[in-house]
Amino acid sequence: MQDIFDKANAVLAAINDSRPSNAEELEVFRIQYLGTKNVLKDLFGAMVQLPGDKKKEYGQLMNTLKAVAEAKFEELKGGMETSTKSITEIPDLTAPGYPMNMGTRHPLSIVKNKMIEIFARIGFTVAEGPEIEDDWHNFTALGTPQDHPARDMQDTFFLTEDKQWMLRTQTSSVQIRMMETQKPPLRMIMPGRVYRNETISARAHCTFHQVEGLYIDENVSFADLKQTMFYFAQEMFGRDTQIRFRPSFFPFTEPSAEMDISCTICGGSGCPVCKYSGWVEIGGCGMVDPLVMENCKIDPVKYSGFAFGMGIERITMLRYRVNDLRLYFENDVRLLNQFEGAL
Ligand code: DAH
Repeated sequence: MQDIFDKANAVLAAINDSRPSNAEELEVFRIQYLGTKNVLKDLFGAMVQLPGDKKKEYGQLMNTLKAVAEAKFEELKGGMETSTKSITEIPDLTAPGYPMNMGTRHPLSIVKNKMIEIFARIGFTVAEGPEIEDDWHNFTALGTPQDHPARDMQDTFFLTEDKQWMLRTQTSSVQIRMMETQKPPLRMIMPGRVYRNETISARAHCTFHQVEGLYIDENVSFADLKQTMFYFAQEMFGRDTQIRFRPSFFPFTEPSAEMDISCTICGGSGCPVCKYSGWVEIGGCGMVDPLVMENCKIDPVKYSGFAFGMGIERITMLRYRVNDLRLYFENDVRLLNQFEGAL
């Protein structure tokens, strides 16, 4: 009688000690202890030999045996599943990493930075001003009082009914801020975003970017302006680039001019971009009007200076031939990626 208790305990110990380490060994374990002809069945069958008072004890032992065998099987099976899974899923730590898209600079930023760099080489520093401007800085101090017809050239987004506050229509407003707060000599460029109430099309947008330039010192002449612009055009567009000045009008410069460069697309022989003229406009410029200097408390007898304003979108277009302004604001990565490594 004690015999079958010993047998059952021996099986229990064997179950506890068994260590199937792969799927085949586990299957042997299953057949042995849980299969249709498992060893536990014989042990169960032996229960009939026991006197009534031992039956209960033996039955409990057998139940324990069965439960232990089942639990062990489940545990080992689970462990094997996860371990086979994890073997295939552990990444190869020596493999090269996934390529990561680092993003690129926006073409307008690339061109702006290039302009800053070109002008820095001849001593121009960078200044910035607010995009929300008052009437004085955006218009009046720049020789464009309230009733001046030149105001119509710029469709302004006014922010207040009295038209005293607006989104700046030109970076020329920063010229005023600089002249008001600093003493000559002044030699700076002022890049920034400007706003005009225009219908959006390939050639016009309600927001775009300008780079303003200002140089004020004693004895600054139009020749300095021309040479500075010539230097810029050659650095930006290449050594073969020519420039030309056409007389023009701006309320804050006298005399004023519009600057053209030889067409970067056709080299001057004529194409649709330059409308077959061989020249394309890149901005306006002129000698700072003495009245503007007086508005900023700078003595126009002692000092003279030149100013210029260029559109960054336009220069980007001439460099990269992206000729629809809207593309600059859509941020389509397929377009942006094309400028990777540019400049
Ligand atoms: N502010 C002018 C515009 O937006 C551009 C300009 C012309 C700026 C002549 C200047 C300048 O500084 O001298 O159309």
